[in-house]
Parts: sequence; C-alpha cells; structure tokens
Amino acid sequence: MLKITAEQGDITTWQGDAIVVNLFEGTKTPGGATAAVDKALNGAIQRIIDAGDLSGKLGETTLLYGTADLSAERVLVVGLGKQEDLDLDALRRATGKAARALKATKARKVASIVHGAGQGGLQVDAAAQAITEAALSATYSFERKTKDEDDEPEDRVAELVLLEHEANKAEAAQAGVARGNAIGNAQAVARDIASFSGAEGTATAIADFVARTCKETGIDCTVLDKKAIQAEKMGGLLAVNQGSEEEPRFLVLDWHPEGATETICLVGKGVTFDTGGISIKPSKGMDKMRYDKSGAAGTIGTVLAAAQLDLPLRVIGLTPLTDNMPSGKAVKPGDVITMRSGKTVEVLNTDAEGRLILADALDYAKQFEPRYTVDMATLTGACTVAVGTQCIALMSSDDELIEALREAGDASHERVWPLPFYEEYGEQIEGSVADIKNVGGRPAGAITAGKFLEHFAPEEGWAHLDIASTAWNSTKPHFNGDYYPSGVTGVGVRLLATWLNQLA
Ligand code: BES
Ligand code: MN
Ligand code: ZN
Repeated sequence: MLKITAEQGDITTWQGDAIVVNLFEGTKTPGGATAAVDKALNGAIQRIIDAGDLSGKLGETTLLYGTADLSAERVLVVGLGKQEDLDLDALRRATGKAARALKATKARKVASIVHGAGQGGLQVDAAAQAITEAALSATYSFERKTKDEDDEPEDRVAELVLLEHEANKAEAAQAGVARGNAIGNAQAVARDIASFSGAEGTATAIADFVARTCKETGIDCTVLDKKAIQAEKMGGLLAVNQGSEEEPRFLVLDWHPEGATETICLVGKGVTFDTGGISIKPSKGMDKMRYDKSGAAGTIGTVLAAAQLDLPLRVIGLTPLTDNMPSGKAVKPGDVITMRSGKTVEVLNTDAEGRLILADALDYAKQFEPRYTVDMATLTGACTVAVGTQCIALMSSDDELIEALREAGDASHERVWPLPFYEEYGEQIEGSVADIKNVGGRPAGAITAGKFLEHFAPEEGWAHLDIASTAWNSTKPHFNGDYYPSGVTGVGVRLLATWLNQLA
C-alpha cells in the first residue's frame, strides 16, 4: 500500500520524484503554491494556460518537467474544476486522476499540496482525509501476476507526502491523514476479501484471514464453525451450505471500547461464490460471483475502521460465510427449511440464497440489543435495474436512520437512495405451505428481498443496503470511477465509517 504522511514544508524545495499542484477551472493566472512552482518553472504553467491547453477542468492532468530551481523532477498540475463547485468529492476525484497520471511515470516519492485547504476554503483536516482516502483507493490493486525482477517496484508511486505550508495547520493535516489512512486501509482489506477467488476465499480461509487481521486491533474475533452453527440452529445458513464440500463459518467481530454506551450491529452477506445452486446461474459472467461476499467484506472493513479510529461505540460485525453450490446433497426448489428464529421458509429458488443466510445473522443480532442494525448485501440483480451503478439501494422503515445514512452517503460519496418499503410488498412473499417463500416474483425484486429480511431483523433501527450494483466496477458508468479501481469497490466501508463517526 501507498504510504501517506503529512508535514509542514515548501513544495518548491521538497526533494523527491514529483510534486502535485492544482488549478481551478478558468484561472488565467495561477496563485498560491501553483504560482510559486510556476515561477520556478520560468512561467511554463502560465504559458500552457495562455496557449489554451490547461483549463483546470476537474481531473485534468498536465505533466511538466522541472528546472534547476525545483528539487523535484516532475510537476503535475491537476484541475480542481470550478472554485464554486469545490467539495470533498472534487478533491477525491482530482486526487484519483493525479494518482493514475503518476502511475504512468517512474515517480515513487511524491508530494502534494493539500488541495482545497487554501483558496478552496475547505477544512485542512477534512481535505487531507479526502485526499488520503482517494490516493489509497486509486492506487489499490489485487493481482497475482508474475513479474520480471527488473520491472518492479520502481514504476509505482510508493510514498505520498502532503505538504502544508502553514505551520499552524500541519497538525490538522496530520490528523486528517491519520483518519484517511485508517479508513483507506480498512477499505483495502475489504477489497482483498471481496477479490479472493472462490478457491482462495472459502469460508474457512476467510475466517482464518480475518482472525489474523484482527490480532492487535482490539477487536475480538469469534469464529463459529459448522458444529456451532448447527447448535445455533441456523437453518438458512446450513441449507445454503448443504450442497457444498466446504464448511460454513459465522464470524462475530466485536469492537467494544471501554465506556461505550451504544451498540451497533453490522451484518454482511458472505456468499464466497454464488453458482445459484440447483437453480443454477448461466455460465456467462459467473466468475464475477466471487464478489458475492462484498457485504461481509465491507462489514469486516468497517469494524476494522471503527477500531482504527478508536470510535467510542460498540460495533459488532456479523458475517455468515458459505458458497452456494449444486450437488446431490444441495437444497432443492420446494424444500421447506426452519430458520434460526423458528420461522419456516419455502425455498422456491436456490439462487435467492443471500436472504437465507442473512436472516439467521439478523436474528442472531437481536441478542446484543443494538440501537441500530445495518445489513449490507449483494442481494439482487433487481437492485441494478432499480438504481443502476450510481448509488446503493436503501430499505428501511426508520426515517431517522434513512436520513442519517443518506447524509453519510453524501459526505462519503458512497451515496444511498431509499426505495419504497410499503407493507403491501410483503404480500408477494407470503408462503403457501410455509410461513414465507424466498422469492417474490419479478416486480420490485430488490424490495421483496428486503421484506424477506424484515421478518428476521431487530424491530427497531434496522436498515438494509443492497450493494449488488455498486460492489463491482466493470463498464462505465463506474461507481466513484475516478478513484475506485475496476473490479471490487470495497463499497460500504467509507459510508458506514462516516455514519458511525457521526453517531459517535
Ligand atoms: N448474488 C445474487 C445477486 C446478484 C446478481 C448480485 C447480480 C450481483 C450481480 C443473488 O444471490 C441472486 O442470485 N439473486 C437473484 C434473486 C432471484 C432468484 C429472486 C437475482 O437477483 O436474480
Ligand atoms: Mn444467488
Ligand atoms: Zn448471491
């Protein structure tokens, strides 16, 4: 991972491979740090502006090479867009573009000014945090390519220093960078987990990985094995696991700082690979179904972030883990199963498996008497039809919670939008031979999945987030594509860390 720090300093004399300065759209004469660098470049930036090739449009990048007057070899000018439109997400987007532009060079050690903190009028710590999160996010990759000894690691940005000119603001910049690192690194862990192939990311392997990751974080990690899951009578999780050669696991992560008065439960769908089971999926694109554990990944990442940020809340992460496989032993359409809560479910489609494992986890959450419970799942293809890739679909009957999550969504730019959640949608999943059935037909598919979960969730303060359309970036339009990589997005960590931070 990219190492990011902040210090007080002057960008023109900073020693390293590249420096990053900025320009607002429509600026005719650069000011501030950009002006100082331009002077050292004998007016090169001004000449490009005059020639009409540098506009300051958001995310525009222009690479220049230094003179003897500058300590760094390269200068990258990044556009911040219109000054009146500047917000934290503009900083993230500009940072993402800058990071990608520098990735194409041999620069390893880079310094940047804290964009937006000067003329932009944003708080230094918030700006530094946004830049840090975006830089970590944009440079993230999950690869197992073999490499020639001589092409790594020189061609990769390894270190970023945020330079704050004013001594009295350096501390705030450092605080922002620390928060950004906490959240950005937790998001990277979520992406690692979501990226594992079906073979790498079995339930047992993920449980081991998470137990190791939680060491020395202050988080208690309890792993329920198959026996314990049977003892808990988690009929949904066991039914989905029934066709598998791999045992299921159920993780309980518990961040419980001293003095915490509120308990928050986070629940994440951890289907390590979703073939659909007997109701098998078409083979085209099935490889992607390894990301069906993104809800679990985001939940684990959020608890890690809460611990790193030392939030004064008890945060419990619950993740049922199993693959969904067809076999001679697999659960079949028409089977009736008994869930942990005692309710019976007609399994009419074995590909609607996520709700079965989440139901048991939501029921398990009740014992902690949480103030709020938020589950997160790549639950339905219908979510993509409803909201596309621009936001997370939210379902809840708690208006205050909806408002709080939307605010956190806007602040983190992992935006959420509520779907209607009228009682009547529940009629679509009323059972004929059991209490309920696990599919509600084609209309409102994302909502009826939410209604299924509602049967098992704590009565007060529950919300469901369907991240099926935002957990994977493939073709345009991307979810936060200027700073989220293609492949898994690690969605939910920044959203929920922001929400928890507001609660605390
Ligand atoms: N994991 C899928 C949902 C999904 C689909 C996530 C595409 C991401 C991209 C889920 O388990 C599923 O298969 N849902 C079914 C439900 C249906 C059978 C009611 C779906 O959406 O088709
Ligand atoms: Mn499925
Ligand atoms: Zn699934």
